[in-house]
Formats: sequence, structure tokens, C-alpha cells
Amino acid sequence: MAHPLKIAILISGRGSNMMSLLAACEAPDFPAIPVIIVSNQSDAPGLQAAQKAGITTASLVRKDYASRETYDNALNDILKKHGVELICLAGFMQILSKDFVEKWHNRILNIHPSLLPSFKGLNTHQRALDAGVKFSGCTVHYVRYEMDTGPIISQAVVPVLEDDTADTLAARVLMEEHRIYPKALKLVATGTVYVEGDRLISKE
Ligand code: GRF
Repeated sequence: MAHPLKIAILISGRGSNMMSLLAACEAPDFPAIPVIIVSNQSDAPGLQAAQKAGITTASLVRKDYASRETYDNALNDILKKHGVELICLAGFMQILSKDFVEKWHNRILNIHPSLLPSFKGLNTHQRALDAGVKFSGCTVHYVRYEMDTGPIISQAVVPVLEDDTADTLAARVLMEEHRIYPKALKLVATGTVYVEGDRLISKE
């Protein structure tokens, strides 16, 4: 196998998607290796979980930086220092600057808890319920500067049930998030999928 792709996982909170990626990376032949977990919240529960798993962590808090650009430069420096080749956003609740996203063009993935392009942004589950959709789900995609856009790598669909609340729907979607994010990462890390322009090419 070619050398495993060095990944960073960026989080803001609980970190359950991060844990699903870390678990996948533990398989002997998995084509990616986590080199650093970065949080923009110093008290993110996910940070402690990462430390317990023995992964290097860093917390970079926005208020410690004068602007989004200086924050993103510091983030870029840390990622470069650790030899990061691909960034996985996993519940990272901060908008990245255009410059940063362009520097890492086609090297940032994100998971979003809806079937994009529906329900970009926040409160996806309540908005899905309010819209009366019968199915929802999650999407792993390459990141572009416009929020929750970029070539789609993988999606999973779940039913929306009559008596769902935002919480019950979120839990059903989350189980699928944990399933498809590691799979999508594997597709990217093995070069099974890649992007030409804004089109996803799959060799599967
Ligand atoms: C997930 O639902 C993810 O799709 C969204 O934020 C949530 C993060 O959860 N972007 P966790 O921190 O991975 O548990």
C-alpha cells in the first residue's frame, strides 16, 4: 500500500464523527492516519476523547486571533507542521476563509446532516421536519468556500417518521454519518474518487 494519507480532523464539540474516523483508521490496511485533531473550542469533549486515543491535539480559539485570516494562517501552520495532507471537518462550527479553502482545494472534506443541496446550514433536522420531507440523511462532500457546497462523495438516506422530533431524527441520521464518513475517506485516500473541476470522478 502507498503510504497512508496524513489527515487532520477538525471538531468543535462532542466528536462522535471524529471517533468513527479514528476507529476506521485503526484497521491495519486503512489508507489514512490521523496526525492531529484540532478544535476551535478548548473544552470540546471530543478533544479529551482524542487525547485518550493517544492522538496529538491542538485547540485554536478564534477570540485569541485578531481576524479570521490570522486564525486560518495559524491553523494552516499547525497543519503544515504535522504534514497534513487532507482535512476532515467533523462538526467544525466555524467558517473557513476563502484563502484557506483555496489553499486546501480538494483537500478538505465535510460531513453535513442533510441530503445536500437541501437544508444547508444549521438546524437541519428541525427544518427537514418543518418542510415535511419523508426522507432525510447525510452527505460527505469536498469543501468549497460557499457553505455546504462542493462535489458530493457519498450520501445516505433515512426515513422521517411520523412522530420524529429533531432529536430522534438527528440520532437516526448520526448513525449513518458514522457509517459513511469513514467509507468516503477511504474512497478519497485510495484515489478511488477524485475531483476534476467540480465533478466527482469515481473509479469504482
Ligand atoms: C454532526 O451531525 C455533523 O454532521 C454536523 O455536526 C454534528 C457533529 O457531531 N456537522 P459530532 O461532534 O461529530 O458528534
